[in-house]
Amino acid sequence: MSDAPKKLHIKTYGCQMNVYDSERMAEAMGAKGYVLTDNPAEADMVLLNTCHIREKAAEKVYSDLGRLKPFKDEKPDLKIGVAGCVAQAEGAEIMRRMPLVDLVVGSQNYHRLPEMVEATDRGERPVDTEFPTEDKFDLLPQRPLSARPTAFLTVQEGCDKFCAFCVVPYTRGAEISRPVSKVLTEAQKLVDRGVREITLLGQNVNGYHGAGEGGDWGLGRLVRALAKIDGLERIRYTTSHPNDMAEDLLEAHAEEPKLMPYLHLPVQSGSDRILKAMNRKHTVEAYLRLVERIRAARPDMVLSSDFIVGFPGETDQDFEDTMALIRAVNYGAAFSFKYSARPGTPAADRSDQVAAEVADARLQALQALITEQQRATQAGMVGREVGVLFEKPGRLPGQWVGKSDYLQAVHVAAEGLAPGVLARVRITASGPNSLAGELIGA
Ligand code: SAH
Ligand code: SF4
Ligand code: F3S
Repeated sequence: MSDAPKKLHIKTYGCQMNVYDSERMAEAMGAKGYVLTDNPAEADMVLLNTCHIREKAAEKVYSDLGRLKPFKDEKPDLKIGVAGCVAQAEGAEIMRRMPLVDLVVGSQNYHRLPEMVEATDRGERPVDTEFPTEDKFDLLPQRPLSARPTAFLTVQEGCDKFCAFCVVPYTRGAEISRPVSKVLTEAQKLVDRGVREITLLGQNVNGYHGAGEGGDWGLGRLVRALAKIDGLERIRYTTSHPNDMAEDLLEAHAEEPKLMPYLHLPVQSGSDRILKAMNRKHTVEAYLRLVERIRAARPDMVLSSDFIVGFPGETDQDFEDTMALIRAVNYGAAFSFKYSARPGTPAADRSDQVAAEVADARLQALQALITEQQRATQAGMVGREVGVLFEKPGRLPGQWVGKSDYLQAVHVAAEGLAPGVLARVRITASGPNSLAGELIGA
């Protein structure tokens, strides 16, 4: 037997929570002697951390598994694992459909991954998609040194909202919040390792209600406590539901300079009729009022959103109402999707599904409007001074790339830049996807 470390390739689909989970799984397997590789061809184990949110995302997993077949034929002891939300939703079905898969691990069970890999050594094909009573976060190993100045930190998981189109309440289970002390300890460790910006993650992160001193803490209070950590310069959070934007969180935006002025606040639709059918439990009017309050607290706030077009029953008028909402809010960015009927969700059974061509045309129109707003937001940055946290070298010599306070990519060519440097930058030019600037006082 050779002493060379085993190699693990992880492919991550879906949202940032999966990115966070993939890092934690890499660490769990690292403790078992596995090192990461970008190249599936040289891997001893391939792990797909999957997403179930839309049909395309879920089906891609099966085609990617098919593509691993030649590797497995060549190297029969290659281990193939499926993790994440498709694993959670389909479980043993994956094993039936894909004989090359060795293990299936649901999103709450990653701490069990090393022992599941041991079971595959004994020729077993373990499937674990139970929602465990123990806390996976407690059982995963410590996070190792990271060279990156930014990190994700999951503080909340699961969703109790049950939007009529969405699989997340089923794949991630009920809402749970990690206790305040655990979050603060993990954040401090990240900062000790050079992290300067933390993005707090949760499916409904602003619904955070973690056990802390004196009772349950909301996200606003958690943010204020995190802001006291020396060396932590920036705090972000995602994703938020409009109904959970508490007053305390708005106040934190007004008062806490470390809390960055960019907020992802999905609305999905601008039609009250569709919002009701989606079970979003708020009106257009309530959302617009909330946006006003957010901008009163932090006038320079850049907002982004998610939109679904072609939800069952959506008429031309409903869609026009969505376009009107977008014009009223003026977004700095947005993600938009064609409705995808997901098995087991209430909307999937409706008889009034929208024709694909209609949904395609609406998606195009919506994306054109968002692109216009995004470009205008970018162009409006020219001449302004912003903070930039540098992350990596750019493509041109001497150039570095970082993110502005508003989460825009900014290119700067200057001496003395390095990952983790936070500098004041004057924006000199804007492109569709990035800005250029120069150091102030350099
Ligand atoms: N928890 C977050 C987002 C979860 S999923 C929130 O509530 O905002 C990310 C986005 O995927 C959603 O905001 C929604 O726009 C989109 N999405 C979810 N289910 C979908 C479906 N069945 N079809 C198309 N888009 C969907
Ligand atoms: Fe899905 Fe709605 Fe929960 Fe977001 S709030 S995860 S869209 S059910
Ligand atoms: Fe996808 Fe699961 Fe995230 S379904 S969007 S990976 S919570």
